[in-house]
Formats: sequence, C-alpha cells, structure tokens
Amino acid sequence: MAGNARREMNDQSNELSQLLAIIENVAGGNYSNDIMALTGSDVPGPIRIIAEAMGMMMVKVETREYQLELLVQELRSLNEQIKRNSLQTVSSMAQALEARDAYTRGHAERVAGIAALIACEMGLAPVTVELVRTAGVLHDIGKIGCSDRIFQPHEARNPPDVVKEIMAHPGAGAEILKHLDFLGEVVTIIHAHHERIDGKGYPRRMKGNDIPLGARIIAVADGYDAMTTDRPYQKGMTHQAALEILRGQAGAKWDADCVAAFERLQVIAPAQEQPDEGEPTGTTPPAQ
Ligand SMILES: [Fe+2]
Repeated sequence: MAGNARREMNDQSNELSQLLAIIENVAGGNYSNDIMALTGSDVPGPIRIIAEAMGMMMVKVETREYQLELLVQELRSLNEQIKRNSLQTVSSMAQALEARDAYTRGHAERVAGIAALIACEMGLAPVTVELVRTAGVLHDIGKIGCSDRIFQPHEARNPPDVVKEIMAHPGAGAEILKHLDFLGEVVTIIHAHHERIDGKGYPRRMKGNDIPLGARIIAVADGYDAMTTDRPYQKGMTHQAALEILRGQAGAKWDADCVAAFERLQVIAPAQEQPDEGEPTGTTPPAQ
C-alpha cells in the first residue's frame, strides 16, 4: 500500500515536471503538441485540468496569430496598391503636363527609359534603377505650376520672367511630391535634375558628387532627349551630334561616368538615329 502511494506520488511529480517544462516552452513562444500527452484520463486530476486549459489556450493563441498574419499580408498588399495608385496619379499628372506642349510629348517616358538603361549600365541595384526610372517619369512635374508662356516658342533666348519660372520647376516638383513618403529619394533626384557638375546649374548650384547620382543620370538622359527631338528653337540633332555635345561637356555640365555609361548603350543609337534632313545647330538647347 505504502509502495503504491509512493509510485503514485512519483508519477505525479514526473507529470508536474513535464507540465512545467511545457509551460516554460510556451512562455518562450515554442508551441508543441506535447501538452496533449497530459490530457489523458490516466493523468491526475489537477495536472490534466491545467493541461486541457493550456491546450485550449494554445489553440486560441495560434488562431489569433494566424489571423494576425493574414491581416498583415492584407495591409501590405493594400499599402502596395496605394503606392501604385498614387504613382499612377502623379504619372497621369506628368502626362497631362506634356499635353500642354506638343514638343515635349513622350519626353518624360523617353527620359525615364534612357535613365533606367544608364543606371543599369552603371551596375546600380534593380531597386535603384526603378527609382531612377520613376524620377525620370516625374522629373518635370514641377512645370505643372508654370504659366503657358514657358511652353510657347521664344525668339533666341527666353525672357527673364520665363527663365525665372523655368528655374523654379525642380523645387516646385519636389514640393509637389514631398508628401508621398514612398517615393523616397525620387524627390531629391527631381529637385537636383538641373544641377551641373561644375556648379553652374540650378536651383541650388550643387557641385560634383554633392548632386545625387540619380539626378546626374537624369540630367544626361534629359539633355540627350532635348537635343535629339524637334523643339521650337531647333530641329532635333542626330544621335552622333548629341553624343559629341555630351562628350564635350562631360565633367562640366554632365557627369563623366554617366556620359560614358550612356555611350556604352548601343541600344540607343539605332532606335534614335534617323536620316537628318536639316543641319544640327551644334549648340546646347536652353535647359528646361
Ligand atoms: Fe526639367
């Protein structure tokens, strides 16, 4: 009789130790089905009751964790959708802007495409390439606040008030986009897309590597597209003529590494090169 009681006490002590070990594991976030071994009818009453309660509690916690995970996934997906919609909205604004000026139709998309190719050629990470592409699409969005005068042909040089408006557009663009947090560095790039390596750009006269790399890339793509498309003040140049100008001002107006990367893009030339019936002007177009 005394032996039976001792054995019973030992069994209880073992099961209690198991229960405590399981509770410790659960407290450490390590759920397992071990608790089920302590819910059998042969397990002493109080330990079984605690084990059953623990089992129920773990099922509820796991269900909530699963629901929480689904919720997080849904929130992530909604967040992505909001980003896409916002980007689509501002891209539509950029396209609407081009409708005001027959000469710049398609300019933003071409700049975005060329800039992304240069970024890729320079070995930038895919996420940065996409960032540069987005900056290319939106780079002139600040012109949305400009008067129609800047889109009208001017004789020789732009009048001072038009120049002032043009020079304000990078800052205006950054101001429009600054609240779209997900755009990140795109806003900084847009603000600096008319800066020059030699510090003679605008609006802040930044120099060299102080200018974000994305902005230096956009500047090359922007300059090339401006030179090779027909504008009120000049007929579009050939690829070769534009390349000569880019080369000639690499290190002064444009970043030399970005120009070199552009030169390596064989894909640009055949697509852009067309028989040129007119004489290229041989001058750099006014910065816009
Ligand atoms: Fe611009």
